[in-house]
Amino acid sequence: MLRISAFRLLGRTGASRLSLLEDFSLRHYSSDPLGVREDTRDARAYFTTPIFYVNAAPHIGHLYSALLADALCRHHRLRVPSAAATRFSTGTDEHGLKIQQAAAAAGLAPSELCDRVSAQFQQLFREADISSTDFIRTTEARHRMAVQHFWGVLKARGLLYKGLYEGWYCASDECFLPEAKVTRQPGPSGDLCPVSLESGHPVSWTKEENYIFRLSQFREPLQRWLRGDPQAITPEPFHHAVLQWLEEELPDLSVSRRSSHLHWGIPVPGDDSQTIYVWLDALVNYLTVIGYPNAEFKSWWPTTSHIIGKDILKFHAIYWPALLLGAGMSPPHRIYVHSHWTVCGQKMSKSLGNVVDPRTCLDRYTVDGFRYFLLRQGVPNWDCDYYGEKVVKLLDSELAFALGGLLNRCTANRINPSGTYPAFCTTCFPSEPGLVGPSGRAQAEDYALVSAVATLPKQVADHYDNFQIYKALEAVSSCVRQTNGFVQRHAPWKLNWESPVDAPWLGTVLHVALECLRVFGTLLQPVTPSLADKLLSRLGVSATERGLGELHFLPRFYGHPCPFEGRRLGPETGVLFPRLDQSRAWLESYTNAF
Ligand code: MSP
Repeated sequence: MLRISAFRLLGRTGASRLSLLEDFSLRHYSSDPLGVREDTRDARAYFTTPIFYVNAAPHIGHLYSALLADALCRHHRLRVPSAAATRFSTGTDEHGLKIQQAAAAAGLAPSELCDRVSAQFQQLFREADISSTDFIRTTEARHRMAVQHFWGVLKARGLLYKGLYEGWYCASDECFLPEAKVTRQPGPSGDLCPVSLESGHPVSWTKEENYIFRLSQFREPLQRWLRGDPQAITPEPFHHAVLQWLEEELPDLSVSRRSSHLHWGIPVPGDDSQTIYVWLDALVNYLTVIGYPNAEFKSWWPTTSHIIGKDILKFHAIYWPALLLGAGMSPPHRIYVHSHWTVCGQKMSKSLGNVVDPRTCLDRYTVDGFRYFLLRQGVPNWDCDYYGEKVVKLLDSELAFALGGLLNRCTANRINPSGTYPAFCTTCFPSEPGLVGPSGRAQAEDYALVSAVATLPKQVADHYDNFQIYKALEAVSSCVRQTNGFVQRHAPWKLNWESPVDAPWLGTVLHVALECLRVFGTLLQPVTPSLADKLLSRLGVSATERGLGELHFLPRFYGHPCPFEGRRLGPETGVLFPRLDQSRAWLESYTNAF
């Protein structure tokens, strides 16, 4: 029998623009606006969120993890319309010491606590419009079967052995810690208590015989995988961090606990005295969902993208790929990592009493409003701070005023009395600035706008690929501002439909602005699905015209027919997004914005 000492933990967790536009012409018109359609027509994709602990009710950090995955998945569906090509799973992590202890503290049977809190996550995700296709609970029989099968494969491949584990264990984080990662802090009685340096959660000394996984064998294969695939972990700083961790020694990993100590879990096959380590149990959920061990899982596994918070990077980027390699499978295709939300500068925690309830936020700011806020403000590389005023300011300025105002300005009865998508006049707005003749009205800034919006879908797609969704939203928002500037510059309200000189240009201004709005509505679908639906319906865009493959911006400018010209606008004239701040100060601050 081998003796394993404390495990080393890897964690730490105008005019001048004309010259730029000379070669503008047809370059931006393509039958495949993103340059991705052919590649991805049949491409499958499987997105996963972490499965959430059921020791406490969901908070905004949990919702953020799920929203990021939802936006990535919805963006993929816009690229690849076939619904069968996308799978999106989420769920609850219900075993382990943390849940066992939380249930005991609440005076509940663990299964009761699991049922109660898992239902809260399911309800939150329904309310927040999370478009998952699968919800898994680790207490399900299908999962137990998958975990025990996975264990059997590791065992058969000689990767598990019995050894004595002696060291620190943190039940809140469900992880082993080396001495160097433990510090002492005064506890409730004033005595110094050992806690995890990273999380501040209490740790306890453990000495027991466990099954051990030969993790140390996988250091080089993991390095080869990461060096060979620089995008495996995105954003790059997290990829770099994992490679740094792998520079250090990689000790073997204890993958079971004594059942007398941990009974709430999946027993080791053939040895009821041991319960499988909750992280091994939890990670296998990603396989259970796609049917493992039945062969069907093989068609989904190579397309897996995990969305995770930075605190669980080590488990997903080291333990999990090593376990997969050990079981004869490939590491996940992508691991997208995000940072955390703090509240008024502080870490969110039950003990500090500053946990923000996401359901209250959805009620207060609307579902689409709160989704937009979290994804527009959440930066994956850094922690972000949450406070209510910030939400109101952002939503009022970008959704209510800039986007809602733009739609209203182009569709209001007094400016667009026919209630149609007006015609685009190619002599008013020729395809090249050099061709502007006597009846031409377009200015250099207008070409800059067309150029910006024409390239927006590709820019947005690139930001999604790099897991920078906030940058995609920033780019959309910047184009919305430019379009408002375009409308303001040409003041269509001063033009007259009855004048043969004004009318073609008036129609063109509205046509261009509506085309821009069509692009914005299409691109916002992954983030604000209901608002985007309202916007596209108001523009008369049908359900089959909302994918990225169909998004041909301003086709008449590029010499192609426009299916929207002359089409009736949708009948729903309501406010696109309700202003949250009803005070006069708001109106005053925005009146002269453009
Ligand atoms: N059960 C494990 C995951 C197992 S996956 C095989 C777990 N659960 S968790 O409920 O603690 O965390 C779930 C997700 O929520 C993680 O991605 C975590 O990073 C995220 N968040 C928890 N607190 C957060 C914030 N304050 N801000 C943003 N996300 C945070 O870990």
